[in-house]
Formats: sequence, structure tokens, C-alpha cells
Amino acid sequence: MQTLSPVIIAAPLAGWSDYGMRSVLVACGAREVWTEMINATALVRGNAKTIAMLKTDRVAGVRYVVQLFGREPADFVTVIESGLLKDYDEVNLNMGCPAPKIIKNHCGCQLMQHLDDARHLIELCAAAVKKTHQALSVKMRLGWDKDIAVKFAQMCVKAGAERLIVHGRLGVDGYRGVADYDGIARVKAAVKVPVIANGDVRDRASYENCLVVTHADGVMVGRALCGAPWKINLDDQVPSYARIVELMQMQKRLHNGNPSDLIKHWLCYQKQIKKYYPEQPLPVL
Ligand SMILES: Cc1cc2nc3c(=O)[nH]c(=O)nc-3n(C[C@H](O)[C@H](O)[C@H](O)COP(=O)(O)O)c2cc1C
Repeated sequence: MQTLSPVIIAAPLAGWSDYGMRSVLVACGAREVWTEMINATALVRGNAKTIAMLKTDRVAGVRYVVQLFGREPADFVTVIESGLLKDYDEVNLNMGCPAPKIIKNHCGCQLMQHLDDARHLIELCAAAVKKTHQALSVKMRLGWDKDIAVKFAQMCVKAGAERLIVHGRLGVDGYRGVADYDGIARVKAAVKVPVIANGDVRDRASYENCLVVTHADGVMVGRALCGAPWKINLDDQVPSYARIVELMQMQKRLHNGNPSDLIKHWLCYQKQIKKYYPEQPLPVL
């Protein structure tokens, strides 16, 4: 199969991007996969469930990115230097999550309202990854309640971020409306590091439109991959019924997270089967 360039990246999705989904995505041709956001403090404290979220089997040619969030900058440094993240090529800092429980802990997109704190965190992590020879990136939005993306992106790069992933929405907008690709384009024009565009890419047409408008170095795809990991190729090809069932079984076999998360995956796969193969039986969990 012809692989698209610029790269297509599977987005971090809390409750979805577990070891099973990441493995299935790689089996479908993903060249870069991310963990969902992982709490740095829980890793430092040795929380077994959180450490299990790091499980990965490296496949040659695939880039592995671990995303961290947390309240205590020192915990990020401890985790990076601990060796726990050794299977990952890149550490990403979550500065885009707008969920109330994240924001109220001064994490995620809240950092886009506190540039000094964001800068401090990036600088500490940049120094830490130098020692571990990993890359450092930031995943951001356009801002919290107003577009400050260019200023924020320039700050991130100056502080040591080597790549930016920009979701073209404000934090206050959650997932409403449409992603503002012009906003991402302004970031791309303003920094020298690679910029990955994110938001509302779901098929070949939206991928091409996103790249034409943003001039980004790649795109990140999130929700479109739930129950449809083959869309990582954005080639609009639907696999055979047998292949979809095979992917479902693989996801089930490798699932190491909450049982309820597997049910969510399963229901989404079933939705795809109902759409493309309505005459075929729905595999049961
Ligand atoms: C259920 C759900 C969970 C998410 N979890 C994360 C996360 O852990 N880390 C993160 O940076 N973004 C997270 N996001 C945001 C996505 O990575 C992505 O930025 C967003 O969904 C827009 O891309 P899309 O339109 O392709 O879905 C999440 C989004 C959803 C819907």
C-alpha cells in the first residue's frame, strides 16, 4: 500500500489509545503512535495501573510517543530520568486537554493561560530529555479563550520543544465547531520546528484540505480511528469483513486496560460492521 507523506499520526485519546489500540494501529500501517495522556505523578508513585499504560512492543520503523500531564514539574523530570519511558522516542507534554478535572489541577490547556508555568515545565523537560536522548514536543490548542497560538508556540520552541502538535480549537470550545486550520497555518508560518495539524481529519479529502490550508508537516487523526483503525492510511479503503473481525480479535487479545474501555472499542467496531457489512453477523465480545 502506498504510504502518504506527510506523516499521519494516531492521536492520543484518553480511554482509547491503550496498548491494544496502538498495536492494532501499527498492524494497520501506522508509522507513529501515541499513548493517551499519562499522569507523571502517578508514575513517580509507582501506580501499577498507570505504569501498565506504558506497555509497548516496539516495531521497527514506527515512532513511539508518550504523552505526560501533571501538576508537579519535578515529577516529569523524575519520570523522564527514571528509565520508565525508555521504549519511547519522544516525550510529549499535554497542554491542550480542556476537561474540567484536568484544568482544575493546573494541567492540560490551563497551561495556555499560564505561559510562565508552561515555559518552566518545557525547560525542565528539555534538559531531562537531553540526558535520555529523547525528543520533546508539546500538544497545544489555539489558546484557552482567545487565540494566542503564535505567541504560545514561539514560547514553546524557545523553551526547548522540538515539535508542535496544534489542535485548531480553543480550550473553551472543547470539541464543538470546526477546527480552525488558518490558526494552525499561522503557527506553521511562525516557527521553524515541525508543526502537526490536528482537528477534524477523517478521510483523504479532509487530510488534503488540512494540508493545503495549514502547510503542516503532518496531520494527527483522533476520533475517526475509534473502531476504524484502518483509517490511519486515509486512503478511503474499507477492509474486508474478515479483516475487521481479525482486528477486533487482536484488540481484545491485547487489551490490558479497563474492561469498560474494551466494550467501547467493540461497540465502535460493530458500528463499522453495521455500516459496511450489514448482512454479516456482529462478533460478540
Ligand atoms: C475521548 C477523547 C480523549 C482524548 N484524550 C486526549 C489525550 O489523552 N491527550 C491529548 O492530547 N488529547 C486528547 N484528546 C484530543 C485528541 O487527541 C484530538 O486533539 C482531538 O480529538 C481532535 O482531533 P480529531 O478531530 O481528529 O478527533 C482526546 C479527545 C477525545 C475525543
